Amino acid sequence: MLPQTLRITQNPGQELNTFLASKEYSQVFVILDNNTRKLCYSVIKPLLPEHTVIETMAGEAFKNLETCSFLWQEFTRLKADRHAVVIVLGGGVLGDLAGFCAATFKRGIDFILVPTTLLAQCDASIGGKLGIDFEGFKNHLGVFQQPALTLLYSGFLKTLPEIEIRSGFAEVIKHALISDSALWKEIRNLTLADQNWDKLIEHSANFKYSIIEKDPTEKGLRKVLNAGHTIGHAIESYFLQKGKSITHGEAVAAGLVAEAFLSFERGFLSLTFLEEIRNYVLNTFGKLDFTEIETEAIGEFALQDKKNKGKEILCVLIMEKGDAKWDYVIQQVEIKEALLYYLKP
Ligand SMILES: NC(=O)c1ccc[n+]([C@@H]2O[C@H](COP(=O)([O-])OP(=O)(O)OC[C@H]3O[C@@H](n4cnc5c(N)ncnc54)[C@H](O)[C@@H]3O)[C@@H](O)[C@H]2O)c1
Ligand SMILES: [Zn+2]
Repeated sequence: MLPQTLRITQNPGQELNTFLASKEYSQVFVILDNNTRKLCYSVIKPLLPEHTVIETMAGEAFKNLETCSFLWQEFTRLKADRHAVVIVLGGGVLGDLAGFCAATFKRGIDFILVPTTLLAQCDASIGGKLGIDFEGFKNHLGVFQQPALTLLYSGFLKTLPEIEIRSGFAEVIKHALISDSALWKEIRNLTLADQNWDKLIEHSANFKYSIIEKDPTEKGLRKVLNAGHTIGHAIESYFLQKGKSITHGEAVAAGLVAEAFLSFERGFLSLTFLEEIRNYVLNTFGKLDFTEIETEAIGEFALQDKKNKGKEILCVLIMEKGDAKWDYVIQQVEIKEALLYYLKP
């Protein structure tokens, strides 16, 4: 069950209005980016009390210290005190960054997350991880801090470009595969356009929240959330190094197929289940553009994964009955075989 501070809603403006009326905040800031200002702000604006808008530039390239400095300077210039509250209206980039700025300003002021992308609603806004990229390293600086409130509203997805929907959808598929085989069946019987987003957001949020509640510091169980990510991250890094950008979700979707192959090889998944995953992912995401020869280099990237222990590559494996187990040691050569399975005609 979701806690009181994490809500699925059909009216985020009204929820914000009620929440703010129950508190005595000294000032209300709304932080948004140039896209969410145009496309999402009007949903909440009419119902908000007096507030100050601060706009940042959209995109991962701005998830950095300069943008933080800008926000901290604005808070200072606008005389924010410790009783101010920050409403963050945006995707995972803004949630991580503005949440981090709020959590560190004057040792922490309240912040409210209103995630506007599927990825942020199903993944990034749940769990209290905040931070920014630094010196080329992703999420290198950060803190753990829970928001005062998180509001999940699927209506924001109406304006989200399809490429961004697909990016979040990979995490939704991951959550279904590792927690609920009946839900996976429902998902795979529908195209991307026909999915029931309210149901899927609720499932993802509930599932991720329940895992984090049981294992907040990633000692064990929380590792299941890395399903698809050992090979997925390797693919993402490889494409990044080649200067070809793919979304995180495209890489994770391919990673889920490749890692499902490793489960199949160990007898944890039937061939039917494996092929279902592959067919659905390829129909929804298309096939990534790399060749047999490049599978070697992708395997090299998996060796550098920060979740590894020493020289061992560790992987989460999906199980037939709809859950997953973690810390399986896999070999670089197996990654190559798994990617060849992904690539097969
Ligand atoms: N904290 C965590 O636990 C966690 C987990 C997963 C990912 N993340 C982080 O999330 C980030 C990725 O988040 P993302 O995929 O949401 O990307 P994003 O925040 O960059 O948003 C994608 C794009 O969509 C635009 N946008 C946002 N909402 C929109 C809407 N409703 N309509 C139209 N356009 C909209 C944004 O302006 C941006 O250009 C990464 O930085 C990643 O590290 C964090
Ligand atoms: Zn991910």
